[in-house]
Amino acid sequence: MSDRVRLDETEQWQALRAHREEIGEPPLRELFRADPDRGRRYALESGDLYIDYSRHLVTDETLRLLRELAEARDVAGLRDAMFAGKKINVTENRAVLHVALRAPRDAVIEVDGKNVVPEVHAVLDKMAAFAERVRSGEWKGHTGKPIRTVVNIGIGGSDLGPKMAYEALKPFSDRSRDFRYVSNVDGADLHENIRDLDPAETLFIVSSKTFTTVETITNATSARRWLLSALGDDAAVARHFVAVSTNTEQVAKFGIDPANMFEFWDWVGGRYSLDSAIGLSLMIAIGPERFREFLDGFHLIDEHFRTAPPERNAPFLLGLLGLWYDDFHGAQTHAVLPYSHYLSRFTDYLQQLDMESNGKSVDRQGERVDWDTGPVVWGTPGTNGQHAYYQLLHQGTKLIPADLIGFARPLEELGELADQHDLLMANLFAQGQALAFGKTAEEVAAEGVAPELVPHRTFPGNRPTTTILANELTPSVLGQLIALYEHKVFVQGAIWNINSFDQWGVELGKALAKRLEPQLTAATADTSDLDGSTATLVERYRTLRGR
Ligand code: F6P
Repeated sequence: MSDRVRLDETEQWQALRAHREEIGEPPLRELFRADPDRGRRYALESGDLYIDYSRHLVTDETLRLLRELAEARDVAGLRDAMFAGKKINVTENRAVLHVALRAPRDAVIEVDGKNVVPEVHAVLDKMAAFAERVRSGEWKGHTGKPIRTVVNIGIGGSDLGPKMAYEALKPFSDRSRDFRYVSNVDGADLHENIRDLDPAETLFIVSSKTFTTVETITNATSARRWLLSALGDDAAVARHFVAVSTNTEQVAKFGIDPANMFEFWDWVGGRYSLDSAIGLSLMIAIGPERFREFLDGFHLIDEHFRTAPPERNAPFLLGLLGLWYDDFHGAQTHAVLPYSHYLSRFTDYLQQLDMESNGKSVDRQGERVDWDTGPVVWGTPGTNGQHAYYQLLHQGTKLIPADLIGFARPLEELGELADQHDLLMANLFAQGQALAFGKTAEEVAAEGVAPELVPHRTFPGNRPTTTILANELTPSVLGQLIALYEHKVFVQGAIWNINSFDQWGVELGKALAKRLEPQLTAATADTSDLDGSTATLVERYRTLRGR
């Protein structure tokens, strides 16, 4: 038996449990009536982000108890260990240093006694030089044509980040070029993305930390075949393929010249790698200067997280509020609802960040946890969701905490369409209002609604939301938002005592697929070693394929 202190046996956890019983679900209407200043008091600023957390089912006492829990679990200690380059990813014996990727040039962050910041900046400089060559047209394809389309081939952390950020920052991108993202091993993904392209004008960035991920290597191999069948010369690969990886050997084995490889390091987790060389496609799209602004945005929140006291520390606060619902209200999911079309892929990105990090059920010592860990993260941009699933948010039986994210200013390039922005934001504010305060049966009846319809038209309210408001969706603000969520996830993992930095849960499916593939394709297959369900499905599949 280890001598670890179980989270649910700590006095701080017990105090929170007792407090939860005592206050129940305090009506937000009452909380605001009792404290007219709550909207201002329960808000904080972190970088350019204004965060309103007044519509949560918490009192000053709740927040104090939650902070005491964070203190007892030494979240600040683990945070400092991360920033100091300690190997806090205990199951892989690795440092966790995505914060070094956005550190300024003169910063010193050591791993095993070596300052990694100069290497980070050397790669950033190499990326910038390459990005400028592509952007200026100086980098030419094999036949002498400039590059018109950049296709990133990667999956998971090697895809979701750059794809999301490219969509988010499209207005800052070079509109004369097209940027595409291929991830799915379903050939349809590659097909749809290259069918209208001229190979002579296409650059593939093969992005893979390990360079062994089957989806990525399969797609990259097919893309190379497509390119060579058009250009007919192996030498073309060097002008049309570059790699982003930690694995020089595999990159060379694939046939990409290591001179065309952009490196990163094992202390960068896949889902934390967007601001490493994995962001190369984004840098080509928005240019090195904007990319630096993006990294500076991350760094601003890193510094806030590192130095702000817990009561004014946004990642602490958001982490603790999430935990309050997960562990003391039985909430199973968390909705992220951006009121910005440009953030249409933001929630997809957060799914990996949060669920791959905190979807764990054993603690750092390998013992089963008896408390709920990471929630299911989901959501799509408002106002589309309002006409789909918000019904359940407002009147369903489940408590679903949500983040509403919006921006004061529309992007300039929208021109006349910018007039629609006030309506968009009115929707954001109205949804937070409706979710929090609802509409009572008395209020509904007073409108003359037929008595039998009153229950149907009543809104219970008390559905918690955080509103995150910024001036404009710039590269810096996007970096700030991402770092906010990264550190929120960190705070929660630290309290739950789980390792947020490994992902063993993805391995079993990979191994089984590798074993099954020959049984689908071989001329004859022996399925007797399979379980009854899989054997039947494989046999049915083979019949349908005429095998
Ligand atoms: O299978 C999960 C995973 O390992 C992610 O953590 C990672 O982001 C993704 O696969 C891609 O891995 P790689 O960058 O090594 O191809």
